Amino acid sequence: MNILLTGGLGYIGSHTAVTLTEAGHKVILLDNLSNSSLDVLERLQALTGKPFAFIEGDVRDTPLLSKMLADYRIDSVVHFAGLKAVGESLEKPVEYFSNNVQGAISLLQAMNDSGVYKLVFSSSATVYGEPEYLPLDEVHPTSATNPYGRTKLHIEEMLEDVSSSNSEWRIVCLRYFNPVGAHPSGLIGEDPSGIPNNLMPYIARVASGALPELNIFGDDYPTEDGTAIRDYIHVCDLAEGHGAAINYLDNQKGWHAINLGTGQGHSVFEMVRTFEKAIGQSLPHRVTARRAGDVAVCYAKTDKAYTELGWKAQRDLDEMCSSVWYFQNFQISKDKVA
Ligand code: NAD
Ligand code: UFG
Repeated sequence: MNILLTGGLGYIGSHTAVTLTEAGHKVILLDNLSNSSLDVLERLQALTGKPFAFIEGDVRDTPLLSKMLADYRIDSVVHFAGLKAVGESLEKPVEYFSNNVQGAISLLQAMNDSGVYKLVFSSSATVYGEPEYLPLDEVHPTSATNPYGRTKLHIEEMLEDVSSSNSEWRIVCLRYFNPVGAHPSGLIGEDPSGIPNNLMPYIARVASGALPELNIFGDDYPTEDGTAIRDYIHVCDLAEGHGAAINYLDNQKGWHAINLGTGQGHSVFEMVRTFEKAIGQSLPHRVTARRAGDVAVCYAKTDKAYTELGWKAQRDLDEMCSSVWYFQNFQISKDKVA
């Protein structure tokens, strides 16, 4: 199958590109390089031993998308492209609505005009807002607590309306929990520019000595050790979930929302301890105030992914942490050579 990945050079897109290529698909990448680099393209080619078709461009460029869909005879699209930092979305909501919502509209227009109706969309557990019960299943009420989350919610709702308008559409919204980890080769992983916002990349920078210590945002949550709990999922498991979703769409019409998580919650302290075990040294950290907007506990009910997609996360927390450390060291040794 010919599959277009928008945002395909980003963190999750690049891992999915490897998985789909290894499964025998032809993967075509579109990215505007706003949060990635061409270096990733070279690494994807080194990793898979295959050349990738890559177009540098913006998902809001509808004529470009239409041309790509035709030129590469695209069968399915996985839409990763977008902005994803919650804090930044509060400062720049218009940019978020433009990139994410306008980007999705542009893609839908191009797909509709080209008669390409299979779409997997990168959604997020953020659409559940403050959990009313746990684990979070797909029928849990949805809401948004920040502009980033609102873009995901708007897009999901738009996709549901679009699928109702024409029975040809086959759309899966994958609601990711907390993607972490890196490819075992050490060639691709999460490498944010500037100071990371998310826990895992921050921990990795502290471990490498690039940052002095980890700030743990609150130890007064109503959890066993007082720190917040999340459902961390290895990015390679997540990538395989996309492969399963693409296969699912061969036989399923309409709109579907499916969680991709492990179903297990882990606290921040537990993450720190597991990372310390992976690197064989202690990680400097201190407890600070809670971060505004954080929920205490968030983890997925994963039954639907299993029954509908036949997919289940396989990799454990040790593997998540050790792969991040391996990737981090790969970056450091590469920088030393450069
Ligand atoms: P990422 O920033 O690493 O990847 C996104 C890619 O899209 C980048 O390469 C960027 O350059 C590109 N891009 C952004 N705007 C674009 C545009 N207008 N046109 C073309 N390319 C554009 O992020 P990621 O972690 O790989 O996330 C991928 C998707 O998954 C995003 O939609 C994100 O909201 C969603 N998601 C991520 C997480 C997470 O924790 N990483 C959690 C839930 C959902
Ligand atoms: N945390 C710290 N210190 C840090 C960073 C994070 O203690 O330096 C804590 C947070 O308070 C939270 C946990 O680590 O309790 C995880 O935080 P992340 O920022 O890594 O992830 P979030 O759960 O806040 O959010 C992530 C993505 C969102 C997505 C959400 C659900 O960033 O885009 O998962 O999928 F919506």
